[in-house]
Amino acid sequence: MTSPLADLAAQTKDVLDQVSALSSLDELREREPFLTGKRSPFASLQKTLGALAPEDRAGAGAELQEARRTVEVALEQRRVELARAAREEVLAADRLDLGDVVVGDVPATLTVGHPSLVALTQRSLEDVFVAMGFRVAEGPEVESDWYNFEALNIPPAHPARGLWDTFYVDLGEPETVLLRTHTSPTQIHLMEEAVATGSLPIHSVMPGRCYRRDTPDARHLYSFHQIEGLVVDRGITFADLAGVIETFTRAYFGPDIASRLRPGYFPFTEPSAEFEVTCTICRGSGCRTCSHTGWIELGGCGMLDPAVLDAVGIDGEVWSGFAFGFGIDRCAQMRHEVSDMRALIENDARFLEQFS
Ligand code: PHE
Repeated sequence: MTSPLADLAAQTKDVLDQVSALSSLDELREREPFLTGKRSPFASLQKTLGALAPEDRAGAGAELQEARRTVEVALEQRRVELARAAREEVLAADRLDLGDVVVGDVPATLTVGHPSLVALTQRSLEDVFVAMGFRVAEGPEVESDWYNFEALNIPPAHPARGLWDTFYVDLGEPETVLLRTHTSPTQIHLMEEAVATGSLPIHSVMPGRCYRRDTPDARHLYSFHQIEGLVVDRGITFADLAGVIETFTRAYFGPDIASRLRPGYFPFTEPSAEFEVTCTICRGSGCRTCSHTGWIELGGCGMLDPAVLDAVGIDGEVWSGFAFGFGIDRCAQMRHEVSDMRALIENDARFLEQFS
């Protein structure tokens, strides 16, 4: 009787060919029972071994086992190959080929960063004021209640504090410490220093970051920038303040943008005014951005309140002065027609890149 394993070599070769023809992991999983499993030639042959003479059975069983083992090894190898190919395919599909991104005609490789629109705006504002004879100074972002409020004539229970809600910092100190809500506390630092060093008069601008507990929207951010102006000198009048504001406005926004001062209220200036400029979007004819008034509010200003001069020990009979403060982010928004201020803090390169 011919051995049931007479064709084993040919059958094994046939199965091995099928293994190398497998083209995906799915196909491999589907075909596995027919190659090494219950439906494979090896399983059927296994059943025929019982018919063999007992002395031949062990040898045939070992032979069959070895053939099946060869296929199993080949199948395992194929599984690894197919898994690797599948992974490479996913990686290739996911790869972000920066070499293909084209900005103008220049392929964008790794680029060095550049100052943000806010930093650039701050610099050009400083340039305008320096050209007008101001010096640039800076003050701390973390302030005490005294500098941010009390010295500015805003006592603890004053309702104006509601306008400047901020983030309070608990440093375990008896004094209240907070993130400054405006750059006005820097006025106090400069005046105190000038008194201490006998270096009045003061003609300074003080740019920097401020904080308020505001929910971000198209025109407000919880962290923003202001530039403060302070003049303390002899014989300073409201006309000097209006002149500085108007000169600045034309120099920064261009000759067809004007400024106007409307009566306002700030605890640390008296009289006080809101400082507005012609809407740069509609050039004064009225649009949605300016609520159809033709004007956009930039900040506040006024003559130094005698209570503030008192708080820092400056003699109001000899010295007088004015202060102003306005938003740097707002200036950037106005000059570059940024419809939503949130773009300034979202770090979207497509937005930032426009202002290099
Ligand atoms: N600090 C005020 C604000 O943030 C603006 C201001 C500055 C008003 C200086 C008067 C004088 O609203």
